[in-house]
Amino acid sequence: MDDIDRLRAEYAGRASRLAHSDKYSLFDAANLFTMQQRRRDVIALLKRHGLTPLADKCVLEIGCGTGGVLIEWLQYGVRPDCLYGVELLPQRIAQAQRLLSHLPLIQGDGRHTAYRDSAFDIVLQFTVLSSILDRDVQQALANEMLRVLKPGGVILSYDFWLNPTNKQTVGMTKRRLRGLFPDSTLAFYRTTLAPPMARRIVPVSWLAATLLEKFALFNSHYLAVIRPNHPNNS
Ligand SMILES: C[S@@+](CC[C@H](N)C(=O)[O-])C[C@H]1O[C@@H](n2cnc3c(N)ncnc32)[C@H](O)[C@@H]1O
Repeated sequence: MDDIDRLRAEYAGRASRLAHSDKYSLFDAANLFTMQQRRRDVIALLKRHGLTPLADKCVLEIGCGTGGVLIEWLQYGVRPDCLYGVELLPQRIAQAQRLLSHLPLIQGDGRHTAYRDSAFDIVLQFTVLSSILDRDVQQALANEMLRVLKPGGVILSYDFWLNPTNKQTVGMTKRRLRGLFPDSTLAFYRTTLAPPMARRIVPVSWLAATLLEKFALFNSHYLAVIRPNHPNNS
């Protein structure tokens, strides 16, 4: 079984396991905390890197899943006709398309998309690379992100660097992410209180969880801004 087949099987199993679960719903306090904090961090990062306003930017999310991240980017101000998504798994993209029928979303393999070279100002990868175990598949995805990026554009990555309990994922450490983008400059921001801790602490004290996250020692993810050093010579 290659890595793409493994991924299909993994997500089919996951869909049935989580069918009646609130774990990833905003009605779960820990998940609400995680999503809100992530939004704050993404917004701060967009400002810090001079990426706003977004109304004049074209954005692509590779591995957009069921559309949760795209909804956030619509709210940040990306125009619906300039917010693109590609997703491998038909059931997941179908769900995104039902929710966001006015967006150009397609089913496909992010390693080989039909987008022209240099089409996007920002390319997003949110927890996609970590869901791929095969280094060559990861690299092909990274190369495709670089191909479709405009000169002067950025790739924005949000992924965990440590998730020891899930053997179907690989932590995207600084070293691994740098290895996939060797000719780019990467800026890293440690974010997201590790979900097992958030699940324990948030229901007891939102404030304590907020302080712990600021402290960053127990944060499990990196937001990374990836800028190619030689735009589109790759
Ligand atoms: C953990 S989910 C994240 C979904 C979304 N980015 C989010 O944060 O809500 C990872 C997604 O990447 C998709 N994916 C993995 N490999 C892919 C590939 N080669 N092309 C397109 N999508 C892919 C998976 O099917 C899955 O929907």
